[in-house]
Amino acid sequence: MSVRPLGYSALQIRLHWIVAALVILQLIFGEGIGDGFDARVDAGASGYTGAAIAHIVGGVLILLLVLWRLRLRLVRGVPEEGAGMQGLAAKVGHWAFYAILIVAPLVGLAAWFGASEEIAELHEMAKPVLIGLIAVHVVAALYHHFILKDGLLLRMKRPQ
Ligand code: HEM
Ligand code: HEM
Repeated sequence: MSVRPLGYSALQIRLHWIVAALVILQLIFGEGIGDGFDARVDAGASGYTGAAIAHIVGGVLILLLVLWRLRLRLVRGVPEEGAGMQGLAAKVGHWAFYAILIVAPLVGLAAWFGASEEIAELHEMAKPVLIGLIAVHVVAALYHHFILKDGLLLRMKRPQ
């Protein structure tokens, strides 16, 4: 792929915001799966409470939508991240999102179906990592918008 697109497609933009909203909900309500999981591990119950089902469905949806986004990224491409260290930082940050949003749900599924506290602890490490990545990502987006005034935020608003 030699020619990079000038912007994101309407589908890429829609998927970005849907996944962002789902991830934020998952972070806010993540602990809701706890009661069901404890019942599963400690009492051998099925553990499928309403909150547990919502967490599992939300998490699997994120995994599928991120795989779809990854395919679009590889087939259609994404616009240039920028030059120098700043572009490199953006590239690393974006790929880090893909990595964690694929690994975290898979580890969550392994914890649930393996009824394993140890694997659940591994899965829970995704929380601070994601919060850190999102914080840096949002600060970078706002820095581009308000300080550099280069219209970068519009790339995730207007398809091109
Ligand atoms: C909360 C979860 C979020 C995740 C997981 C996320 C993830 C990503 C990823 C992976 C990209 C790279 C483009 C792609 O591959 O589609 C991207 C681009 C972008 N995101 Fe987010 N994002 C989130 C939230 C936000 C928020 C809240 C904002 C606005 C303040 C934002 C603004 C942008 C912008 C402007 C770009 C384009 C950057 C560029 O073209 O270099 N994102 N995001
Ligand atoms: C990207 C998707 C996901 C995110 C962002 C996410 C996020 C979270 C968060 C924030 C917590 C609470 C951590 C804490 O209490 O400190 C959690 C716990 C948990 N999640 Fe996920 N999750 C995702 C996908 C999944 C999936 C698909 C499953 C599959 C069943 C799952 C199973 C679990 C389990 C078993 C726990 C541990 C409950 C406990 O030990 O009390 N997660 N998750």
